[in-house]
Amino acid sequence: QADQPLTGKHVLITAGGTREYLDPVRYLGNESSGKMGVALATVARDLGAQVTLIKTASVHETMPTDIKILTAVTTAELAQVVKQEFVTSDVVIMAAAVADYRPVTTATQKLKKTDGTNHLTVDLVKNEDILQYLGSYKTHQVVVGFAAETNDLLANATNKLVKKQVDMLVANDVSQVGIGFGSNENAVTLLQPGREPIQLVQASKEQIAHGILTNIVPLLN
Ligand code: PMT
Repeated sequence: QADQPLTGKHVLITAGGTREYLDPVRYLGNESSGKMGVALATVARDLGAQVTLIKTASVHETMPTDIKILTAVTTAELAQVVKQEFVTSDVVIMAAAVADYRPVTTATQKLKKTDGTNHLTVDLVKNEDILQYLGSYKTHQVVVGFAAETNDLLANATNKLVKKQVDMLVANDVSQVGIGFGSNENAVTLLQPGREPIQLVQASKEQIAHGILTNIVPLLN
C-alpha cells in the first residue's frame, strides 16, 4: 500500500460520553453519540494509521473494521485505559465527552425516595482531568483535545489549549443547532500554540475528521 500520511503511526481516539453512577441503575451522563470519535477513527485508519478506539457505553454507532476497540464506562475507567494505551501511541485525540465530576458515593442499592423532605442532595467530587495528564506526561506523542463550548468559544478554547499544554485543541460551539452532540455534521476551530486559528466550516463529521487529521500530520514527530 502506497505510503499514506499516517502509515506506521499508532493513533488513539476516545469517543462517547462517560457515565457516573448514583446507584446501580442511575447515572449522570451526556448527549455524546460518539460519531465524532468514530469518524476520526475511520478516517485515521483510511490514512494508514494503526487505530485504537476507546468507546464509552453511550456509543451505538457501527464500528469501523480493522481497528482495535476498547471500552470504558466511567471517567476513572477511561483514564485507566487511556494511560495504558498512551505509552505506545503516536497521536492521542480526546473526542470523548468526559464528566468533570462524579458522585462522592455510588449507592450499592437503588436509591429509595425518603419521607419528609422533598429534596435529595447529591455531593459531587472532581474527576481526574485526563487531557491535562496527557499534556503533562507526553514525550513524543501529539496530544489533541476537544473543547465543547456554548459561549466565548475562542477565549474558552484558548484557555484550555494553554492550561492543558496540548498540541492542538479542536473547539466546537455545541450550542449551535445541527453541529456537536449527536449530529452528523460539525464545525470546528483548530487552535495550536503560536498559530492562527484554522476554521473548518460546517460539514459531515467524516469531512471534519479529515480536516483535523490533515492538520495533525505536520505535527508528527
Ligand atoms: O460524540 P458526538 O455526539 O459526535 O459529539 C461530538 C462532541 C461534541 C462530543 C465532540 O465534538 C466534543 O466536543 N468532545 C469533547 C467534549 C468535552 O468533554 O469537552 P470539554 O470542553 O468538557 O473537555 C475538554 C477536553 O478535555 C476534551 O478533549 C475532553 O475529552 C477532555 N477531558 C474533559 C474532562 C476530563 N475530566 N478529562 C478530560 O480528558
